[in-house]
Amino acid sequence: MTQYITTQSEDGICTITINRPEKKNALLKDMYQRMAEVIKQADTDPAMRVILFTGSGGNFSAGNDLQDFLDKPPGDENSIVHQFLLTLATTNVPLVAAVEGMSVGVGATMLLHCDFVYAHPKTQFILPFINLALVPEASSSLLLPQMAGYHKAAELLMLGEPFDANTARDIGLVSAVCEPAQLLPTARATAAKLAAKSRSALRHTKALLRRPAEPLPERMHAEMTVFMELLKLPASREIMTAFMEKRKPDPSKLD
Ligand code: COA
Repeated sequence: MTQYITTQSEDGICTITINRPEKKNALLKDMYQRMAEVIKQADTDPAMRVILFTGSGGNFSAGNDLQDFLDKPPGDENSIVHQFLLTLATTNVPLVAAVEGMSVGVGATMLLHCDFVYAHPKTQFILPFINLALVPEASSSLLLPQMAGYHKAAELLMLGEPFDANTARDIGLVSAVCEPAQLLPTARATAAKLAAKSRSALRHTKALLRRPAEPLPERMHAEMTVFMELLKLPASREIMTAFMEKRKPDPSKLD
């Protein structure tokens, strides 16, 4: 197991810290593998309700390790980085990120797959693929134009210049820019709120939010199918019964 990814689980929140500060948290294969393992574990472990990504040493991540790209470039869709990105993009586990310092390459595009992203005001984002004679990854060529509009996405991906936290917030890559001392507390507070929700309802909500565009009646049908299923489950029954009985719901019944 790599020492460059540390995890800590507490109160339903699993914090994944990218911990290779001497290289600005550049990512090696083992690091992707470990992060993918933790996400997969959270998919099934009821004690892991939310994942919170952070970086150590004042940076989020400088992206893929460039020496690793030179030595062992990923060859195909079975590559560890591709498998990590697929796991990240398809999990229904709520993902929160707290970013500061450098957020570069995959260290920025992975945020497109997080549900809440909080940034230190001095975070510097770069999508440097074009400057490395490469193309965007992690579906950023699809998600960024949807999020930021075509022209802004073209600017960020075709020029590859740094942009700041306010720009990242304005285009929707970041949920909020926080005062430095409030960065982790804000991310943790959101993670705690998510951890207190019905696990099942939250994951279904995320799955619905991330469904591809489809005709409105089909989406309504998909929502209603899950809605009716959840109405029968103990969590929603406990919350409604507690309301009627003018008491707080029993948290142990909110799975
Ligand atoms: N891969 C491997 N090593 C990296 C790295 C990366 N992606 N990013 C930073 N490092 C290493 C540097 O080589 C340096 O190592 P050294 O101290 O052994 O020489 C150390 O981390 C510190 O980086 P440095 O470049 O001195 O920091 P900086 O603050 O001046 O610049 C960056 C920070 C992120 C702008 C700059 O390091 C950079 O451009 N990195 C490459 C980013 C990139 O292209 N990522 C891949 C995207 S696909």
